[in-house]
Amino acid sequence: MHVDEVFGSIGAVLGELALPAPLGPDDHRRLRGLLDEHGVLVLRDQALDEAGLIAFSRGFGELATFHEPDKRSATAPEIFRISNVETDGRALRAESNSVADYFNKITRRWHTDGSYKAVPALATCLYGLEVPDEGGDTLFADMAAAYAALADDMKARLDGLHMVHNYENNMDLTPGHRPMSAEDKALLPPVTHPVVRHCAGGRRALYLSDNVARYVGGMPIADGRALLQELLQWSTQDRFVYRHRWRAGDVLLWDNRRVMHLATEYDMQRYRRIMLRTEIMGEEAVR
Ligand code: OGA
Ligand code: MN
Repeated sequence: MHVDEVFGSIGAVLGELALPAPLGPDDHRRLRGLLDEHGVLVLRDQALDEAGLIAFSRGFGELATFHEPDKRSATAPEIFRISNVETDGRALRAESNSVADYFNKITRRWHTDGSYKAVPALATCLYGLEVPDEGGDTLFADMAAAYAALADDMKARLDGLHMVHNYENNMDLTPGHRPMSAEDKALLPPVTHPVVRHCAGGRRALYLSDNVARYVGGMPIADGRALLQELLQWSTQDRFVYRHRWRAGDVLLWDNRRVMHLATEYDMQRYRRIMLRTEIMGEEAVR
């Protein structure tokens, strides 16, 4: 395995790695090092099934299972399916409030995976089984580069600030979806994380979300929202963003401590987009 191409401050294509390859701990250590360095890794032309994706991802740590059973693959609890095609092969209707519709809506906004958990996801692995001819790109923002480029007075202003991340906020984005159950609310109460976090390589990074975060602690609500919007706009400028144009067979691995991401629109009547996904659990609380 070697680095074929590097895009900017984030994003690297790896060559000579055909999955499902039997990878040993040394291979995974090397991959983890590359992930720490580049934030987003791209493996092209892979042919994987659910078990192969699980085996590859599992080398990076424990895999999360999603708390809502209807949003997991029916065959493997570690697999999330992000798609406009229902598992029975029916096309998704535009306003169906189905599982597919739910993921399509919440992934359209900048976020970092699992920030609604006390210990958020370390990394996410996303495999493009079928991808549209146009649209449906995934954008990644380098939150370490965005932080580093902030003016010193803004850095000082952010020092020590925390933001509230609440899974239930996703419900505002998906009108018609069933409300969160009492069990899920108990499982996933609102959590607070620092607005500036540590990540790999001794870097500090902005840690934001435009789907589950709303409030900055110790600030009037409107001021917190304005600050969040300002930081979202800042960090998603073109100069900090890598746009991934999918080819079928791509496997992406990204570091949720370092990057935010979103999915772009595509013509859902015309194209199918079927993504299989695993989430690698974090090892420690955000600090
Ligand atoms: C995700 C996600 C974006 C996409 O898998 O966590 O946000 O492009 N996906 O499907
Ligand atoms: Mn995501």
